[in-house]
Amino acid sequence: MLNQILAILIITLSCISCTSTTVNLNPNSPTVLITGANRGLGLEFSRQYAASGWNVIASCRNPRSATNLHNLTKKYPQVAIEKLDVTSDRQVNTLAQKYHSQPIDILLNNAGIYGTLEKQTLGSFDFEELKKVFDINTIGSLRVSQAFLDNVLLSDQKKIISLGGGMGTQSIGRLFGGHYFMKMSKAAHLMAMGVMQTDLKNTELQIVMISPGRVDTQLMRDSGWSGPSISAEQSAQLVIEQIAALKPDMNGRLILYNGTVIPW
Ligand SMILES: NC(=O)c1ccc[n+]([C@@H]2O[C@H](COP(=O)([O-])OP(=O)(O)OC[C@H]3O[C@@H](n4cnc5c(N)ncnc54)[C@H](OP(=O)(O)O)[C@@H]3O)[C@@H](O)[C@H]2O)c1
Repeated sequence: MLNQILAILIITLSCISCTSTTVNLNPNSPTVLITGANRGLGLEFSRQYAASGWNVIASCRNPRSATNLHNLTKKYPQVAIEKLDVTSDRQVNTLAQKYHSQPIDILLNNAGIYGTLEKQTLGSFDFEELKKVFDINTIGSLRVSQAFLDNVLLSDQKKIISLGGGMGTQSIGRLFGGHYFMKMSKAAHLMAMGVMQTDLKNTELQIVMISPGRVDTQLMRDSGWSGPSISAEQSAQLVIEQIAALKPDMNGRLILYNGTVIPW
């Protein structure tokens, strides 16, 4: 009986420990919070910021299976893995409470999905799919931005960055057809970020959406794109350079990974 209780206790404790990691962030280093950090661009952002000595709060839906992130923590102990589904008020609020009063220099709204292509094609719209894409790309990023706003305002750099895309946030005057849900969700999120920037214009906060290019990740494959692409490593490096060099006229705007401001 005692053995059974001990076994249950060990399993419970090991489950708790693999859903998040307790890390003492270095108070002398800047801090970035990244959503969807377990793969693709999010993983690459985590790796590159960690390699530059940043504290990285690397959040993802399933820390238990985030093997690449766990490997990263072996090399960079200032990487904290946290459980965060951006569609969950409870999870977002719990994490915000955990990091209450922790300055966050950059909040990187990276988590996103493309949605199934056929379901966002005229003639076969699936509106449940539309809700799902909005829940993650539009509402999720807004929810996280609101929850961590005070953390960002407490920091030195004060930046909220969301990832957009040529597909999702192309200039309204240069539209091409199809891909409705992805385009709508990112355009709506860009509007939300622009309004938030206007609300907070008397602060030093910078809110910018950056298009990372066509990047060879699962999301790009979901988009049906089979043309040229760049690697997540290259793209993350270019985006990080842009984040470091943001100019005042980019505030509330969408920029490309090469720094071009997109008219929208
Ligand atoms: N790749 C491109 O060409 C491209 C172009 C323009 C913009 N972007 C943007 O770049 C960002 C990153 O995409 P990616 O290319 O790196 O795609 P990816 O490899 O498919 O990664 C997407 C990430 O989002 C996470 N995610 C999905 N739903 C989530 C939720 N509810 N809560 C938290 N995390 C969630 C995924 O986690 P799971 O593993 O748990 O699903 C995964 O970590 C997206 O916002 C995307 O729109 C990408």
